[in-house]
Amino acid sequence: MLATADLHRALALRPGQNIHLSEHLRRVTGIIALACAGRILLHQELADDCAVSPEAVLPLGQIVSEAMTNAVKHARPDGDLVRLVVRCWRDDLDTICVEVADNGCGLAPDPANSGGLGLRLIRQLARKAGGAAEFHSGDDGLRVLVRLPDRNLSTCYVI
Ligand SMILES: Nc1ncnc2c1ncn2[C@@H]1O[C@H](COP(=O)(O)OP(=O)(O)OP(=O)(O)O)[C@@H](O)[C@H]1O
Ligand SMILES: [Mg+2]
Repeated sequence: MLATADLHRALALRPGQNIHLSEHLRRVTGIIALACAGRILLHQELADDCAVSPEAVLPLGQIVSEAMTNAVKHARPDGDLVRLVVRCWRDDLDTICVEVADNGCGLAPDPANSGGLGLRLIRQLARKAGGAAEFHSGDDGLRVLVRLPDRNLSTCYVI
């Protein structure tokens, strides 16, 4: 994927340095928006104060990619345009939050039985990035939220 190639280039140029999550996510969402032109209406709110470690940035991009792809595939079985909101921000506790929300039908009662791998993958990728994934599903759509606590800050609290 192009966004991944760009990321590897950036990591090679600045080894070990934190990466602006917003830049990477903008690339990921741009590629999917292009591929799904006419099927989605994308709104993005990507804050620029979300620097994350090189280990976290790739899985977070993959999560956004899978959640957006899921929305396109499953959110509107009637074929209507899918409204997608992709956000990243730093909250009051310095937790980095990444969210993909759609305006579709929400998850079926037992999505684990669908035979798909995507939701499981999202959980695993979130753990790999050092955080956890939450799925908030309702009549107004599905919201995938990943939170990455700031480890340095929690160390400060312990001290
Ligand atoms: N945004 C969504 N809106 C409605 N239903 C969803 C959404 N995302 C996932 N689902 C439901 O959850 C199921 C499991 O999703 P998952 O991503 O694990 O599998 P998949 O997309 O069917 O297959 P795969 O990801 O392996 O290609 C889907 O089959 C679908 O029924
Ligand atoms: Mg999927």
